[in-house]
Amino acid sequence: MKMKVINLKSKLIPILQEERSKGKKIGLVPTMGALHSGHLSLVKASIIESDVTVTSIFVNPTQFNNEEDLLKYPDTFEEDIRKLKMAGCDIVYAPPRQDLYENEAKRITEFSFGEYEQILEGQYRPGHFGGVALVVSKLFNIVNPDLTYFGQKDLQQYHLIRQLIKDLSYNIKIRCVPTVREKDGLALSSRNLRIPQDLRPLAATFYQCLITGKEMLKNGESISSAKRKVKEIFIESAELRLEYFEMIDTGKFKIIDRIKNENETSLCIAGYLNNIRLIDNVNYI
Ligand code: PAJ
Repeated sequence: MKMKVINLKSKLIPILQEERSKGKKIGLVPTMGALHSGHLSLVKASIIESDVTVTSIFVNPTQFNNEEDLLKYPDTFEEDIRKLKMAGCDIVYAPPRQDLYENEAKRITEFSFGEYEQILEGQYRPGHFGGVALVVSKLFNIVNPDLTYFGQKDLQQYHLIRQLIKDLSYNIKIRCVPTVREKDGLALSSRNLRIPQDLRPLAATFYQCLITGKEMLKNGESISSAKRKVKEIFIESAELRLEYFEMIDTGKFKIIDRIKNENETSLCIAGYLNNIRLIDNVNYI
């Protein structure tokens, strides 16, 4: 299938209806563009498992609580299309804002996620997950996929969408794709494009802290000792600022101070390298 680039849902829906009527399984990979190998690993996972892979490219305004972040969001559209073609994607849905938010001025629907929103990303980015859930629900309704692919890089986003699928009775299977990293451990992110060359080595601190914390826990030290250590590491560099370093029970998606189930434990970190916000996480096992 030659890759199609589609801008309007009115064009996309009948194409997908036809594929579905032939019994084809549809996989959806939601993205905001500026694609890197992390995104492409989601696309590849979909190609392996689904018959038709749809990648959406849309910089979603409702999930940005920082206007500057939205304005600075990199736009590498032509390059994204080239990468998706190479990867073997079937359909790109790249709508203008109007196609997804035609009723935005009159919208009254809002998502709220209780305790999910009070920790980690939710705490530091008020309103962010409401915007993510809104756009992802719109995409689910338009694409009506059988499968959808999210990255472990955004662990809380994955868990939230997994819960949203259950809560709203979507008949969609969600997959969590492992984080793709640079050689020094830095998780690939569209924001990495903004890291100045001279500060690039410092960006690996986030991953190094996760590994240090994990080793300390494995050596029987407490999470509070690990937190102290991570704070010390961050204080050493004027360019680094820690927002959180937490241990999470991924089953309940709650902050914990003692490991209950090793298979459902992750360490999560977020902070700034100068004015660039970076997040990362690792599983305990
Ligand atoms: P975006 O940041 O473009 O990420 C799209 C998907 O790629 C997400 O599921 C994210 O977790 C995954 N991803 C990003 N970096 C990755 C890496 N290094 N390894 C593996 N996967 C990675 O997340 C969003 O967009 C938006 O919130 C969206 C879901 C599209 C809604 O607007």
